[in-house]
Amino acid sequence: MSDDLESLNGVGSTTAAKLRASGFTTIEAIAVTPPREIMEKTNIGFNTILKIQEAARQMVATDFKTAQEFYEKRQTMKKCTTGSRKLDEALGGGIETQALTELIGEFGSGKTQLCLMLSVMAQLPPEQGGLGGKVAFIDTEGTFMPERVYQIATLNGLDPQNIAGNIFVARAYNSSHQCLLIDRLFTLCPDNNIKLVVVDSMISHFRGEYVGRETLAERQQKLNQYLHKLIRLSEAYNLAVVVTNQVQANPTAFFGDPNRPAGGNIMAHACTHRIYLRKGSKGIRVARVIDSPYLPEVPVRFKISEKGLEDTEEGGDDLDQESDIV
Ligand code: GTP
Ligand code: MG
Repeated sequence: MSDDLESLNGVGSTTAAKLRASGFTTIEAIAVTPPREIMEKTNIGFNTILKIQEAARQMVATDFKTAQEFYEKRQTMKKCTTGSRKLDEALGGGIETQALTELIGEFGSGKTQLCLMLSVMAQLPPEQGGLGGKVAFIDTEGTFMPERVYQIATLNGLDPQNIAGNIFVARAYNSSHQCLLIDRLFTLCPDNNIKLVVVDSMISHFRGEYVGRETLAERQQKLNQYLHKLIRLSEAYNLAVVVTNQVQANPTAFFGDPNRPAGGNIMAHACTHRIYLRKGSKGIRVARVIDSPYLPEVPVRFKISEKGLEDTEEGGDDLDQESDIV
């Protein structure tokens, strides 16, 4: 997509500079952002923004598209390998750009490990299964381990310093800081050719800060707003977004798996793909795609090793013990 903002009707160099400084560096980003948000960030008048947006929408055709055009946009979608061929297959080729993928699982199920692996793999050129770009990693739990990135890169025959140098990491200290960092991605990503964004975990601060039923609506609204920002980011810059989510014990579930993904319907509806991870026998992990619009929900095995993620021939009957997670 062209980033020649001046080509939009009603945008001179001053307005273009204001837009760029606030993170609206592409016409597509302008077209898909709510006008109020652009106004708050840029201080441009509301009516001017409506006019600019109309011009932007004409250029990117955010109105009705033919199925043919929609199909062509999807052809530009790229897929990032996880390092496990079986898991890639289950995902229809890998983690997709222009989409939000949610990793769900209990502690130790491998969510952070998969995020770290992807942060290395995303930097490979597309012909080697990567996205050929850099990575932004928002760490809310302080579990990002640079040493592990060095280890995975080295054992995969890559230059660890180069790989680590291309991962932008930010520690989010609370939910509003996390939101601020997500807003910041709208400039960071296009400026640095970022092709993978990780938020590990999306929800822990929200859960910790908004306790009690009376705060639930506000929490869900904020979460929803930021998940949709992440979707817009993925579409505007053709990048992959991966968020993690803990499973939360649901004491009212008498039957089936008492673990349910946190965040309720908001997370379920916003995320394009959801992958449920769990520990199998002997250190094996089992992954299953859930709620996908087009992928089959077949469980697959992989293992976490020094190299990151790998296929495994080991494992017994653990695939049969599928739980009822929804
Ligand atoms: P929470 O963030 O606590 O919810 O868990 P998580 O799902 O993020 O789990 P994480 O990805 O941190 O998985 C931790 C597990 O990965 C450990 O218990 C180990 O089994 C495995 N692991 C981590 N590092 C290595 C490593 O260098 N080598 C091997 N073989 N396994 C590792
Ligand atoms: Mg983790």
